[in-house]
Amino acid sequence: MPIPSADSSMNPNWGAPCHRVNALSKTGVEMAKQTFSRSPALRGQIRVPGDKSISHRSLMFAGLAVGESRITGLLEGEDVLATAAAMRQLGADIVRDDDGTWRVHGAGLGSLVEPKQALDMGNSGTSTRLMMGLLASHGFSATFIGDASLSGRPMKRVIEPLSQMGASFEASSGGTLPLMLRGASSAVPITYRLPVASAQVKSAVLLAGLNTPGITRVIEPIVTRDHTERMLAGFGATLEIGEENGERVIAIHGEANLTPQDVVVPGDPSSAAFFIVAALLVPGSDLVIENVGLNATRAGIVTVLRQMGGQIEELNRREVGGEPVADLRIKHSVLFGIDVDPAIVPSMVDEFPVLFVAAALAKGTTHTRGLEELRVKESDRITTMANALTSVGANVEEHEDGLTIHGNGGDLLRGTANARVKTHLDHRIAMAMAVAGLVSRDGVSVDDTAPIATSFPTFMDLLAGATS
Ligand code: S3P
Repeated sequence: MPIPSADSSMNPNWGAPCHRVNALSKTGVEMAKQTFSRSPALRGQIRVPGDKSISHRSLMFAGLAVGESRITGLLEGEDVLATAAAMRQLGADIVRDDDGTWRVHGAGLGSLVEPKQALDMGNSGTSTRLMMGLLASHGFSATFIGDASLSGRPMKRVIEPLSQMGASFEASSGGTLPLMLRGASSAVPITYRLPVASAQVKSAVLLAGLNTPGITRVIEPIVTRDHTERMLAGFGATLEIGEENGERVIAIHGEANLTPQDVVVPGDPSSAAFFIVAALLVPGSDLVIENVGLNATRAGIVTVLRQMGGQIEELNRREVGGEPVADLRIKHSVLFGIDVDPAIVPSMVDEFPVLFVAAALAKGTTHTRGLEELRVKESDRITTMANALTSVGANVEEHEDGLTIHGNGGDLLRGTANARVKTHLDHRIAMAMAVAGLVSRDGVSVDDTAPIATSFPTFMDLLAGATS
């Protein structure tokens, strides 16, 4: 078998947020180096874990509804477990049954309790920013901490609107974690026009609005993933979604009363993307990925890979948990370089690392622009991927807002030989470069695969299975 099997860090930890990465960043001793080698075809059927964005929201919203909600298909990755642990600290009762169903008894909106300890968000920006929104309109204090990656990420983008609503903050210099939030006991509704295209900022304001009397409005000049709006409506909140001057406007009525729900979480398109690209690149592949969420605000990667010539067929299109879903059949394809339309960026913001790998093997040049937000993800994904791809023999030019990649026409990449790709605690860099290893002559060594467990704990096992 060409793919090494999973190491011990891949086991999800059901109970508490994971402190591994903090220890790692200080000592560097537990890094899980792994080499990914040239692979035979990917074949058969696989199922990727539940959608990360929907999983976070299902635990949060269920934790606000009085009564029992049941969640199936929840992603049991470290990021989502950090959200579960935080919701428990805030008073929600959350248990996992042996069959994988999660049962949540919510504390009730407005009845969350002050956490006794700091909320440890691990590597998760989504947990942090959404939870800051939630707590901004609850009249107590909370401290947020996280790993080295999260502690470098910008929080001013949520601090600013939440301060306007009445919350106050003591953040580390530069507006980062660790930070202390003091929620407003009587928050005021605002109208906020998003200065960055961010579903996390949109969601933080809407969640603060849930427990704020009156109507809180978010104006979204560029549409971002809409799971918060869809799911809050499903949990019984009153929302109005309209358009003003060509911009999307979401209005939420507070103080809301959420009712418990049964949530079915569809498979994560962001996780599926690594296998879609792997199957497109490795000759002879014919792979089915079941149950992939294809919400239009998330499915940009499928559109772009098709524009590049990728054969991706949708089978059995249906609805799961109120989201469009299909099984995807992917066959090895000759890919061609394209100019990626910047307008599609928000619907595939997390998929650029693996798209860059696809572009490195395409015929011709791929231009990407409008990717400034990639610089403030778990790592600076523009520079990290430029360095990583260059180190394996790809031809890449870095710009302030994107990469230009001159594809090799479908040859093998050289690989890293003795060097290791630096992933900077970024799960998606590790997985993207694992895919690069499958189409390399000398293999690709990745310095640390442990962060993959934040979003895709079964990645190694699925890769081993699909290529055996
Ligand atoms: C997410 C939104 C995106 C995405 C992140 C998940 C969410 O971040 O990168 O992985 O669940 O709302 P931004 O909204 O900051 O772009």
